[in-house]
This record gives sequence, C-alpha cells and structure tokens, in this order.
Amino acid sequence: MGEDLQRSEKIIEKYRAENGTLIGILQDLNEEYGYLPEEVLKHVARELEVPESTLYSLATFYTSFRLQPIGKYHIRVCVGTACHVKGAPFIVDKVERELGLKPGETSSDGLFTFETVNCLGACALAPLVTSGDDFHGKMDQKKVMKVIDKYRNKKKA
Ligand code: FES
Repeated sequence: MGEDLQRSEKIIEKYRAENGTLIGILQDLNEEYGYLPEEVLKHVARELEVPESTLYSLATFYTSFRLQPIGKYHIRVCVGTACHVKGAPFIVDKVERELGLKPGETSSDGLFTFETVNCLGACALAPLVTSGDDFHGKMDQKKVMKVIDKYRNKKKA
C-alpha cells in the first residue's frame, strides 16, 4: 500500500464527529499528506459514501488542493503585476518549455514542481523566481535556466 490510510482515519472520525464539510476534510487531508493521494480519496469516498467524482471536482476546483506530491525542487515564478511588467511571462514560457510542465504540474521523475504565484512581496526583485526558500531576483530566461541546471546537476552528482 503506497499511502498510509491509517492517517486518514483520524480525519474521517473528526469529520463525522463534527459533521464537517467535505472541503474541511479535504483541507485536513491535504495538510496531513502534503497532497491528496488517489487511494486516500477513494478510501474517503467509500467511508463517507460520497461519489469519488464529488471529491475530485472539489479537489480540482480549489487551487489550494494538490493531486500530486510536490517535487524535490519547487520552482515558483511570480506573475504579480510588478513581475509581469518586468518580463515574468517570458520566464514562465521558458520554464514551461524547459521542464515540459504547465503551472501546477510535477515532473514524472518527481524532481520539479512548477507553479506560478501572485506577488511574493519582494517586488523590488522583480521578476522573481523562488525555489524552495531561495529567492532569485531580477530573473531573465538565461538566469532561470541556470537555476534549473543547478538542480539538474545536483541530481546527476
Ligand atoms: S509582483 Fe512579484 S514579488 Fe511582487
């Protein structure tokens, strides 16, 4: 069994005891696992006797939920106003082409997750890219490639 279903039991019990909402249970599961694993969603659907499709439509509607685990390197490109006017769309384009990912996706080798975000509060550094806790300011297509290559090389090392 890939995911530990035991961990979802507590959350299901809490949901029943409090007569909670499905959104609430998905939030708790997302927090517990870091994303919403397929087998956990199936288990919850069975236990609560709700259609899996209901859980999936909620999980895909709200961007705060994840259906895949986060990759080892989490690349976020800010697309807030200040970053946008300084060229964020070019950076998004480069990252998409280079990693073969759309925002919100994780590479099949689990190495990269790519996301776009709105204003990280460091507009003086626009356009901004972050990887984990690291901030990379005044980015352009060349510089963002250096960031990506650094992580690729780490993998090879
Ligand atoms: S708009 Fe990108 S950090 Fe503010």
